[in-house]
Amino acid sequence: MTLPSIATAVVQWQASHGRNHLPWQQTRDPYRVWLSEIMLQQTQVSTVLGYYQRFLDAFPDVASLAAAPQDAVLALWSGLGYYSRARNLHKCAQAVVDQWGGAFPQTAEELVSLPGIGRSTAGAIASFCFSQRVPILDANVRRVLTRVLAFDGDLAQAKSERLLWEHAQQLCPTSDLQQSMPRYTQGMMDLGASICIPRKPSCLVCPLHSECRAGRAGNPESYPVRTRKVKRSSESWWLLIAMDQDQRVWLQKRPQSGIWAGLYSTPVFDSFEALQRSAHLNWPASESQDWHEMPAFLHVLTHKDLHLHPVLVPMNKAQTAMVSEVADACWADAAAWADLGLPAPIRKLLDAEVQPI
Ligand code: ADE
Repeated sequence: MTLPSIATAVVQWQASHGRNHLPWQQTRDPYRVWLSEIMLQQTQVSTVLGYYQRFLDAFPDVASLAAAPQDAVLALWSGLGYYSRARNLHKCAQAVVDQWGGAFPQTAEELVSLPGIGRSTAGAIASFCFSQRVPILDANVRRVLTRVLAFDGDLAQAKSERLLWEHAQQLCPTSDLQQSMPRYTQGMMDLGASICIPRKPSCLVCPLHSECRAGRAGNPESYPVRTRKVKRSSESWWLLIAMDQDQRVWLQKRPQSGIWAGLYSTPVFDSFEALQRSAHLNWPASESQDWHEMPAFLHVLTHKDLHLHPVLVPMNKAQTAMVSEVADACWADAAAWADLGLPAPIRKLLDAEVQPI
């Protein structure tokens, strides 16, 4: 198979075997495609479907998103994780309005200058919406390409990564097929998601089987090659669940950087003693004997295991009144926190703690 015929095989296979009914495939509106690509970066299609529709109902176009308060954006993102995506999404919408007159630029080179749009996402938007002949190279496509080419450069090294981008560019459909760029891009994604999967790929039914060097050599799982492994770490956090007599919980907005940035959470401490000191300082009368240490649980982030230790601290009326006038913090009942951007484990914890009346 020659290079152009790889593109042809992918395009033909996509038409007959790929995914063609996802909501973001029914449009070339860059706002919708961009939103779907950002949501899909670290999240499965099945999860994204609901979030995507709710987000579009609230913010049907880039201008409405740009004009929204950050809290409203984070609230709609709540549960999707990787919240820097939502913060950048908001900043990007504002940049499109302020710097591009409300219309997304049409080339990958320009798109990549916007907040939160990396080279692969820029390629996806430009190829899906404007049929630009530019590649994508997300984790799935990286796997497909390194296997097809038996590319054994270490992708932890910038020069290997650069070289793979060059190969990806060359493999894109050439002039007569350029109008197939959207289908080609989708086909590469679909191959990586359904056939050329990390373990036990389905080489026998792969449209690129006859051309795939790793497939023919019988060692597709040896690709991609990457030496540097991200080191995982772990932390323990104590969560102060201050609850008043109306089952309202004290929630504070997290700082704009770090874990759960910009979301609302119960106050977090790195030891039980620190939690205790703070509770006694803010709510002097709180009786430690009423406190309830709940079972600890694990929350897994990309590079970190969080061991969460919730401590329920009941508050009386006088204590509740002691902290009420603080910026970015509030007493919230179940109805109020439903509308706030909360990290998924905190929402689960609070929802489980407070039974609907
Ligand atoms: N992941 C990233 N982009 C996607 C798309 N357009 N369709 C399905 N999965 C994707």
